Amino acid sequence: MANVIIVGAQWGDEGKGKVVDIYTENANDVARFQGGNNAGHTLVVGNEKTVLHLIPSGILHPGKRCIIGNGVVLDPKIFLQEIEGLKAKGYLKDDSQLVVDGNVHIIMPYHKAIDIAREKASGARKIGTTGRGIGPTYEDKIGRRGIRLNDLVNPQVFARKLKEVLPEKNFMLEKFLGEPALAEEAIIEEYTGYALQLKKYLGCASTLLNQSIREGHNILFEGAQGSLLDVDHGTYPYVTSSSTISGGACTGTGVGPRFMDEIIGISKAYVTRVGEGPFPTELNDAMGEKLQKAGNEFGATTGRPRRTGWFDAVALREAVRTNGMTGLAITKMDVLNDFDTIKVCTAYSYKGELLEDFPRDFEVLRECHPVYEELEGWKSDISTVTEFDQLPEKAVSYLKKIEEITGCPAILVSVGPRRDQTIQVKNPFA
Ligand code: GDP
Ligand code: IMO
Ligand code: MG
Repeated sequence: MANVIIVGAQWGDEGKGKVVDIYTENANDVARFQGGNNAGHTLVVGNEKTVLHLIPSGILHPGKRCIIGNGVVLDPKIFLQEIEGLKAKGYLKDDSQLVVDGNVHIIMPYHKAIDIAREKASGARKIGTTGRGIGPTYEDKIGRRGIRLNDLVNPQVFARKLKEVLPEKNFMLEKFLGEPALAEEAIIEEYTGYALQLKKYLGCASTLLNQSIREGHNILFEGAQGSLLDVDHGTYPYVTSSSTISGGACTGTGVGPRFMDEIIGISKAYVTRVGEGPFPTELNDAMGEKLQKAGNEFGATTGRPRRTGWFDAVALREAVRTNGMTGLAITKMDVLNDFDTIKVCTAYSYKGELLEDFPRDFEVLRECHPVYEELEGWKSDISTVTEFDQLPEKAVSYLKKIEEITGCPAILVSVGPRRDQTIQVKNPFA
């Protein structure tokens, strides 16, 4: 038996969806533990692409239970649309495959309106959020005025809580942000409709997962976003509003840390970032454009172009440490097929000083410049390679370099978006 946590090791979009889909074969339950529909996890099965925002990426495997843990924030409309989309494709034939914890916080219309209006008002200082209401929903959770799924399915409680909170939200929208106020009746009508449809998925993540553990089953915990977007350990304030690192898997599902066995960080063979914020190895040149084009780097949630840059071992070492990572999955290796040389950042230079650790002070980070080591590219197509020893020597050298400078073994290498374009070096469930 093994319980495995998957986390993004960079700024998101590392290919978590693909890796979770692959690993689901070994698991009985797949659980999301934080974030919301700011996530966009892409799965490619055969030639069919599926993008999931809320439902765990194990859902394409019939018979595997997918659980949305209490740490997630849930937009009911998006969730129901996602279910509909999956059913239309022939998935999720049995509704008991999907469970949502009653303590997930509900994203309300005012959360989305405030998120978007705040970003607009911030101008050049904006965070570049996905505009899905994620931050304002987590603010209300921590501020103890949130509405949870258990509240939503109880009409009296829902109406009471909404009545308490809405005047403050409307004050903020109208008086501070210059946006129209929202009508209570319209919200009640819309959300009562969702509640009726959501009831059948209601459950308790902690009870179900701990029962599963007692029965000797394997659980896969699916992180969203990335370690550098973590609200505590990321590049604050340019982060998301949840604990994206492995510790979040415990608080976000109600499973104790002693049951966690492996922590696998997903990292691209280079780096991307959507939204604003520091990115020391960013390439604002033709090389960056080449990476963006070869990697088709456009957001799965908002369609925004992703910023691109060379692999950053300083940032990755930070993620290895804060997660207690036991292995790395290196994705999108094939994107580097056609590069004469490939750079990896091994340290930062800060005012003439060499830094090997990721600076936790934003003012220092913004003044850091990458120190690179340059490796030769393999200049051949590796997208059909399925065994590690079939990889060209220079691709192996690149992977070895990553392992050496991050101190973490690469246990999976992805060479294309499809399931069959995967080299498994070590099975974390074995
Ligand atoms: P996630 O948010 O971490 O699940 O990642 P996204 O789905 O947002 O972005 C990853 C993108 O890269 C998706 O379009 C995947 O289909 C694609 N992808 C995943 N692994 C590979 C790979 O090894 N090679 C290539 N070329 N594309 C990949
Ligand atoms: P997946 O799970 C990449 C980024 C946004 C913005 C910041 C805050 O697909 O890897 P938010 O809407 O969360 O308040 O935005 O976080 N962001 C992501 N970037 N991948 C994601 O998810 C992201 N989710 C949020 O672009 O910079
Ligand atoms: Mg994504």
